[in-house]
Amino acid sequence: MILTCIEEKTLKTFGAGMAIAGCGSAAPAGVLTNDELAKVVDTSDEWIRTRTGIGQRHLTKPQETLSHLAVTAGQQALVMAGVEAESIDLVILATSTPDDLFGSASKIASLLGASRAVGFDVTAACSGFVFGLAIAAQFIRTGVYQRVLLIGADVLSRWVDWTDRGTCVLFGDGAGAVVCQASPEDRLLGFELYSDGSKNDCLTLSYQGQPRPVGEMAVAAGTYGAIAMNGREVYRFAVEKVPEVIEKALYRANLTAEQVDWLLLHQANQRIIEAVAERLGLPLERTISNLSQYGNTSAASIPLALDEAVRQGKIQPGQVVAASGFGAGL
Ligand code: COA
Repeated sequence: MILTCIEEKTLKTFGAGMAIAGCGSAAPAGVLTNDELAKVVDTSDEWIRTRTGIGQRHLTKPQETLSHLAVTAGQQALVMAGVEAESIDLVILATSTPDDLFGSASKIASLLGASRAVGFDVTAACSGFVFGLAIAAQFIRTGVYQRVLLIGADVLSRWVDWTDRGTCVLFGDGAGAVVCQASPEDRLLGFELYSDGSKNDCLTLSYQGQPRPVGEMAVAAGTYGAIAMNGREVYRFAVEKVPEVIEKALYRANLTAEQVDWLLLHQANQRIIEAVAERLGLPLERTISNLSQYGNTSAASIPLALDEAVRQGKIQPGQVVAASGFGAGL
C-alpha cells in the first residue's frame, strides 16, 4: 500500500480522493521484558532479540479492555486531525480480538462520541489495518462517506499459549488509529491485496468446539484455542510475498521503490523488515521499526508505528510511505 500524508489546510476542501488527516496510538502500561519472560518459558533475551528484534511487549491486565485502548488511540487521531467525533461517518475496527465476538466497533464509536457514525469490525489479523484502509478508501472515493476513523487494535495476549516459546515471545497488545478524510488529491496512491488460503493452517486461532447435546441433536460448544504457528513458513511467506505486493502497489501508483521515503511494514520481526527492505533496494534508514518496544501487536502494529514516527517528526507531510501487512490468512 503506497500513501502519502497531507497538510491539514489542504483538507479543508473535500474531494473524491482520500488522505490521512491524523493519527493516534495507545498501549497498555504493563510491560513484560524478555528477561521476565525467560522466567516463564525456556528462552532468553539474547535468543529473542537476535531472532526477532523484540525487547519487550506491552500486555493488558485482566480488567483492561480492547475498547479502552481503541478509544484512546481514536481520540488522539481525532485531536491531531482537528475534527469532532460527531463529524465521523464510519468507524472501522480492524481486530481479531474484539471484546465482543459480535463486534466492538459500534461500542467504540459510542464511547468516542461519534454519534452519527456507523461501525463494523474487520477481521484480517495482522493485515487488518491495511485491509481497513482499502475499505475506507472505497467509501470515501465513491463519495458515500467523508470521514472514516480506522482503528487497528489487538490484545493477542488473551490468546497466547504462555507455555509455547515459539509463539509467546512474539506478541504484544496495542492500538493505533487514523482519520481518513475526503480530499481533492487522492493520497492513497495505490494498493494491492493478496491472500493465500492454502497456507491458512500456518497461523491460526481457531474455534475448538466440543459436541454438546441439545434435545435429540448435538451442537458444538466451546471456545477458541491458542495461537498456533508454523513460524518458518510464515517467515518465508512474508519475505517472498511482501516485496511482490509492494512492487505491484508501486506500479499502480506509478512510482519506483527509490521514490519511497519510508517503508512501514507490519512489525512482526526485524529480520523480515530488513529482508524486505533489501529486496526492494531500500536502505535500513528508511525503514520504520518499533518492535523492540512493542513486539507484534497484530492489527495495531502499522498505525502504532506510523503514529510514533509522525510524532517523532520522521514522517513528514508529502512524503511517500509504503506500508504492508502480512500474517494469518495467510
Ligand atoms: N527461545 C529459545 N529457543 C527457541 C525459541 C525461543 N523463544 N523458540 C524456538 N526456539 C528454538 C527451537 O525449538 C529450535 O530449536 P532446535 O533447533 O533445537 O529444534 C530453534 O530455536 C530454532 O527454531 P526455529 O523455529 O527454526 O527458529 P527461527 O529461526 O525460524 O525463528 C521465529 C523462529 C518464530 C522467530 C521465526 O520463524 C519467525 O519470526 N517467523 C515469522 C513469525 C511471525 O512473524 N508470525 C507472525 C506473523 S503476523
